[in-house]
Amino acid sequence: MENNSRSSFTGKIGFVLAAAGSAVGLGNIWRFPYLAAKYGGGIFLLVYLILALTFGFALMTAEIALGRKTKLSAIGAFRSLNKKFSIVGYLASVVPMIILPYYCVIGGWVTKYLCAFVSGSASLAAGDSYFGNFISQPVEPVIWFVIYLAVTAIVVLLGVEKGVEKVSKIMMPILIVLSIVIAGYSLCMPGAMDGLVYYLKPDFSKFSVTTVLAAMGQLFYSMSLSMGIMITYGSYMKKEVSLESSVKQIELFDTGIAFIAGLMIIPAVFAFSGGTPEALGKGPGLMFETLPKVFETMAGGTYIGIAFFVLVLFAALTSSISLMETVVSIIVDKFKIRRSLSCVLVFLISVLLGVPSALGYGTWGSIKLLGMSFLDFFDFTSNSVLMPIVAFLTCIFIGYILKPKAIIEEVESSGKFKQKKLFEVVIKYVAPVCILLILISSILEALGYFKI
Ligand code: TRP
Repeated sequence: MENNSRSSFTGKIGFVLAAAGSAVGLGNIWRFPYLAAKYGGGIFLLVYLILALTFGFALMTAEIALGRKTKLSAIGAFRSLNKKFSIVGYLASVVPMIILPYYCVIGGWVTKYLCAFVSGSASLAAGDSYFGNFISQPVEPVIWFVIYLAVTAIVVLLGVEKGVEKVSKIMMPILIVLSIVIAGYSLCMPGAMDGLVYYLKPDFSKFSVTTVLAAMGQLFYSMSLSMGIMITYGSYMKKEVSLESSVKQIELFDTGIAFIAGLMIIPAVFAFSGGTPEALGKGPGLMFETLPKVFETMAGGTYIGIAFFVLVLFAALTSSISLMETVVSIIVDKFKIRRSLSCVLVFLISVLLGVPSALGYGTWGSIKLLGMSFLDFFDFTSNSVLMPIVAFLTCIFIGYILKPKAIIEEVESSGKFKQKKLFEVVIKYVAPVCILLILISSILEALGYFKI
């Protein structure tokens, strides 16, 4: 793969938008609000922001710089710098394979909601038991999941990423504007102000290790870190584009959209259910249960609902396409098979891995892995176990084997690196220690040794 004809992004805007396009997806709109609601609102937001500015900044800089320095994607990048560390590249490559299937299960839920709104069942969708009924069906969630996965696979197979990118550059700004409008509307509902306070004001009594763990898992997920994506993107980045300010812009995009999604959903939870712990702790279903209720009370809500779900579907598709693309190209590189064959294989494996997640709230609801449903279990193993392991090894590699200087030099080849002290301290000391502590506590907790 090491050749001079490696294609590259045309300039800074192109790079930032492409990386932000991968980062912004269901993680921001669906996952962030339910975690924030569940883990204490303001305190979660605060922890998340601190982590984004320190860990997120350092790790994203490191990954992009690694890619740009080596001009290779994850496995090759680590191997070319140190043979022993190629394992990190391999581990990073397993993560998207675990995420892709359940990501598509959620994508299927979004598709189902879009169709419900289009076919005029918006008010049904706003009913209390609509979501619960839907995900506990024996067949329906699987059908929507396979439809969504098939669309993703077709795009990857046809390789029309360019078109998708163009469209998403138009859709993303519309999504932002629409989210702000919906958030404004949510905030005007009676009772919503309590939700705003809950979301913005940190309550330190709600702080726990789990808050940090959840926030960190979300950070990796949302910024597509620790799975080789940013290394690959960095390898396409031109030498003269400023790395530090690109990272800051990507973070701003990603965190901004997550923040607005929280404003849209959390105040509405308070308006409709009074912010009880049960309502806030809903988990993966939060967006699907709360937003249809908001749309129902809005003038022209059905149309706004349709527009909203179309845009979310798009944000999700651009992410699942790049997740699948990653897996497909790893398999092509590794086993030297045709792209189309690899695509079909990944599709079939994803169906197998995704069906348990799709059925995990109904037919297979009684099967629990470490006390979790399938979807939660896959989410947990990738975000709370594998990604921290990859992040830890990346920090050790950069901090002590490659040395931060190499990364700093790479960043400085395209301008000043203002926060290099922060970068060095985080990568060498803060990140490895915190990640390790958190990882150990999360595994112990999952195994039931103690309850945080
Ligand atoms: N960051 C994406 C989101 O917030 C999800 C995601 C995680 C992703 N890893 C990825 C997308 C890799 C594309 C590629 O929804």
